[in-house]
Amino acid sequence: MNTSFLDACNKKVPEHTPVWFMRQAGRYLPDYRRVKGDRHVTEVARDPDLASQVVVDAVNALGVDAGIIFADIMLPLEAMGVGFTIEENVGPIVNKPLRTIDDVRALDDFDPDAKVGYIFDAIEATIRKLDGSVPLIGFTGAPFTLAGYMIEGRPSREMERTKDMMYRQPEAWKLLMRKLTKMARAYLSRQVSSGVDAVQLFDSWVGCLSPHDYRTYVSEYTREIMGSLSGKVPRIHFCADSSSLIEEFVGTGPEVVSVDWRTEIADAWARCGRRASVQGNLDPVLAMSGGKPLTDGVDRILADSKNRRGHVFSLGHGVLKETPPDNLRYVVKRVHDKTRRRS
Ligand code: CP3
Repeated sequence: MNTSFLDACNKKVPEHTPVWFMRQAGRYLPDYRRVKGDRHVTEVARDPDLASQVVVDAVNALGVDAGIIFADIMLPLEAMGVGFTIEENVGPIVNKPLRTIDDVRALDDFDPDAKVGYIFDAIEATIRKLDGSVPLIGFTGAPFTLAGYMIEGRPSREMERTKDMMYRQPEAWKLLMRKLTKMARAYLSRQVSSGVDAVQLFDSWVGCLSPHDYRTYVSEYTREIMGSLSGKVPRIHFCADSSSLIEEFVGTGPEVVSVDWRTEIADAWARCGRRASVQGNLDPVLAMSGGKPLTDGVDRILADSKNRRGHVFSLGHGVLKETPPDNLRYVVKRVHDKTRRRS
């Protein structure tokens, strides 16, 4: 097994700086488009044979140091009675957005094996196909980000209705956070028992909160989810616009904090270097555009991370669908070549 990713998560010295990309199995990749055919992304995720294939194809196509299970943050919500569709180029649309505490009370209890058993079958199939080559990352959406989709009903930058519930309906908010925390714990624990080697908590949109509000309304739930996996597998915290909350994320207890390009990585090292590993932080647009700006961007991140233990090289957010796969292969090779340790 290539252990560079797990070594970096655990602040051990890896053979080379590990690389993986969010959405590495996606529409930019010809293999993915071929396996997907005219199926919907959720159909691929529900079919363990296809879901495992797209993960392994992406790992092989790019030469990355980890795979990530093929699922979507919305799938476990279906098991709580939330109807939704994922619209291409838009994102998740929820049929009946939550408005009141009664809507929250009406959510079903999450039973992983009864409703999303196919995900654990896909994890087992993926591990078989990876055949010990690289570790597999599991994931869940975090309570705030999932609540955002459930309350807004569709992708939103400002999360106005979500924050409005948070401020004006504290009982409803707490009950919703509690139910989603329970789901995330059960879901991740079942992923770990199926064999994933690390987990990433996607709190993609929580960067819209002030540090004070993050501490007041969200951090206890994240800390509880992180704590429930303590000592089991490395835990990564992800937020898409993380710059104002990095210390808060470190405080919830993960091994790794993912940061985006809005923060200088040198600054991220100063803010979490002793307590957590740092994942990031190339701009996905640079990865798409390529050329000298990409080379310079990669080199700058590596220079600023030199002599730092625990760097997981990645993008600040997911691969864009117009990205040439060759650009990502180039990034992987350059990071490996420039950081390889000879013993
Ligand atoms: O390689 C991987 O990263 C694996 C799988 C993965 C998917 N979704 C499959 C998918 C992961 C890790 C996710 C997580 C996810 N889903 C997040 C958190 C990560 C982030 O981007 O912040 C979020 C917010 C979602 C919700 C969601 N699903 C969005 C916003 C979209 C994009 C809509 C679009 O068409 O642009 C999806 C669809 C989706 N989920 C795709 C994939 C590969 C693209 C659509 C497709 O392949 O048909």
